[in-house]
Amino acid sequence: MTPAIANTMHGTHAHRPNLKVLLSREQIARRVAELGAQITQDFQGQSLILVGVLKGACIFLSELARQIELDSTFDFISISSYGNRSEHSGEVRLAKDIDQSIEGKNVILVEDILDTGLTLNYLKELLLTHQPAALKVAALLNKPARHIQPVHADYIGFEIPNEFVVGYGMDYAEHYRNLPDVCILPPEMYQSG
Ligand code: IMP
Repeated sequence: MTPAIANTMHGTHAHRPNLKVLLSREQIARRVAELGAQITQDFQGQSLILVGVLKGACIFLSELARQIELDSTFDFISISSYGNRSEHSGEVRLAKDIDQSIEGKNVILVEDILDTGLTLNYLKELLLTHQPAALKVAALLNKPARHIQPVHADYIGFEIPNEFVVGYGMDYAEHYRNLPDVCILPPEMYQSG
């Protein structure tokens, strides 16, 4: 079962007093190991292509990959969406396609966070046109309160409240990706006026 996280768990980030730690690096590492073990078991004896969604998923992908005990290759895809974080326009554009053929292969699409669900549904539809043998989705975080369309991931790290989070690959205006913990960015740090 996916752990559901309340936003009151930890203190503030040591070097960033404005940021409250929602998920510590230890908590994340334990959960990523569980997801890796689950994937290893589900695809026993088979090979995988891990397709990471740039840039937010790159740290999750690199840590998850090291917990999967199967022959695996990596690929990356990149999209741009229009509108700001609170007003997703619904328009998603492919900025970088995958490099290798996934036809007849087992693919795991690796995402940082499911927010409105638009990006994931767009990418799933796109990858399915390449006819993979299997297409599964691993997402580190899920924000169910923000979904605006039904969205499904097979491997989810944590269900989180409706907060804007940064760290462990996730950014605000390209910053904070290198924080080892997942932290809550207070609204006054991204809302103007
Ligand atoms: P969706 O299409 O609305 O589900 O958006 C998914 C993408 O928006 C994620 O892959 C992230 O890149 C970004 N995103 C959504 N919520 C957050 C957040 O809380 N922090 C950082 N990035 C986010």
